[in-house]
Amino acid sequence: MEDSELIIEAAQVREYAYAPYSKYKVGAALLGISGRVYTGCNVENGVYPLGICAERAAVAKAVSEGERQFEAIAVVTEDGGTPCGACRQVLSEFGLDIRVIIASTSGHIRVFTVRELLPEAFTLALRDDGACRP
Ligand code: THU
Repeated sequence: MEDSELIIEAAQVREYAYAPYSKYKVGAALLGISGRVYTGCNVENGVYPLGICAERAAVAKAVSEGERQFEAIAVVTEDGGTPCGACRQVLSEFGLDIRVIIASTSGHIRVFTVRELLPEAFTLALRDDGACRP
């Protein structure tokens, strides 16, 4: 799947973002090695800390549907913002080589790996082989 297709999926799901407090809508589209795409948007809550980010919503959707290995995730925001630290950590659980495609709604695109976004990551899963990395 082309990066551009994944970005389109992220941009589409961004429209579902529930962000009445921050007004900052985020859409994510996570590509599994199966070829399936799992989308997520941020879902805020009146109890602010309970809100979930788009990236982690997408990871939860994928893992709960049986997929644990990923090639890439596209994240779309108005200004091309990068994933927060918590989302970087959650992505790292499933692979430091996952490509992170960061796009703005105006079409500015940057590509990193999780490894680049989270240097010297804490990776317990790597040590005990308990998670998902080959
Ligand atoms: N947000 C995400 O969905 N992903 C990130 O990586 C950064 C932040 C959301 C959380 C909150 O709903 C809004 O953006 C503003 O922080």
